Amino acid sequence: MENSSLEKMIEEAISGAPDLKALEEVRIRFLGKKGELTQQLRNLGNLPPEARRDEGQKLNLVKERAESLLAGRSEEFKKQEVEARLEKERLDVTLPGVRFAAGKIHPITRITREIKNVFVGMGFEVAEGPEVESEYYNFEALNIPPDHPSREMWDSFYLGDGLLLRSHTSPVQVRVMEKRRPPLRVIVPGRCYRRDAVDASHSWMFHQIEGFMVDRKVTFSDLKGVLSAFAERMFGDGRKTSFNPSYFPFTEPSAEMAIDCFVCSGKGCSVCKQSGWIEILGAGMIHPAVLQAVGYDPEEFSGFAFGMGIERIAMKKYGINDIRLFFENDVRFLKQF
Ligand code: FA5
Repeated sequence: MENSSLEKMIEEAISGAPDLKALEEVRIRFLGKKGELTQQLRNLGNLPPEARRDEGQKLNLVKERAESLLAGRSEEFKKQEVEARLEKERLDVTLPGVRFAAGKIHPITRITREIKNVFVGMGFEVAEGPEVESEYYNFEALNIPPDHPSREMWDSFYLGDGLLLRSHTSPVQVRVMEKRRPPLRVIVPGRCYRRDAVDASHSWMFHQIEGFMVDRKVTFSDLKGVLSAFAERMFGDGRKTSFNPSYFPFTEPSAEMAIDCFVCSGKGCSVCKQSGWIEILGAGMIHPAVLQAVGYDPEEFSGFAFGMGIERIAMKKYGINDIRLFFENDVRFLKQF
């Protein structure tokens, strides 16, 4: 066959090949072991020497050109293939992802942490005690003898054998003081139980934070200073406090601390029940009988103690009108915090 027409045939076959596979077939057809061009190259040996050189050169040129065309086309196909694949497997990173429902901190835990942080910032350490408590720690050691009428204020669930579910966190004061010597600055968060009928502001299970400080020469003004600082950090700068006489068998004198209402600033609203004040906690100077029960000399050491209900504080702070919401685990309620 004429070289030029062979060359044309090869060119046409290459440009007509629709894909890599067809292109490979073209290569085999012309350049394979038994390919048409290979055959012709092999046949060169049959030509007379002068013609052989000429013909050889021409055929080699055709071969080189065919190889280069095949390589170019093959490159193009490969590129197209990659592009098609990229298009097919394209990932739209702008699509919104699958959103996981993130858990939230329970409002009681949140308030507990806030209160803890305020006192830890004032040098208090955190202690815990058992929820199943003995009558001794819940009552006797706190100056509440068996026949004392104030036991009714802290009536609990009795488990027999002198055990009960603690009705306040005050027993932990005694447990810590028994083991250690002053100076002490301790707060005690924890769960408490009472035989209270459940209503919007009472639950048979609730949380308290107890706090106490014992050292030489601790006075009522230390109590006022620490608790006023707490009120400001927790409820806002400039918060006013008011200490009103109260009664607890384990403190003398005893007081209830109120803050001016952080919603109406004392003018009177539904949160403070029009009084302008919100009661926050019970407090007082630790009774000498309690100090004696743990082996401290009341002449040498004095201290103050306080206790507050966390649910009640959370209710005021977040404007929640029913304590039961904290314990029902309704996510519609919980996810608001
Ligand atoms: C006491 O429990 C004392 N231990 C506090 C104390 C400690 C005084 C140290 C002096 C020194 P009281 O019974 O008032 O005090 O309870 C304290 C707080 O617990 C209450 O103000 C209230 O916020 C919360 N509380 C009491 N009973 C319940 C209840 N049934 N449901 C929810 N919160 C309650």
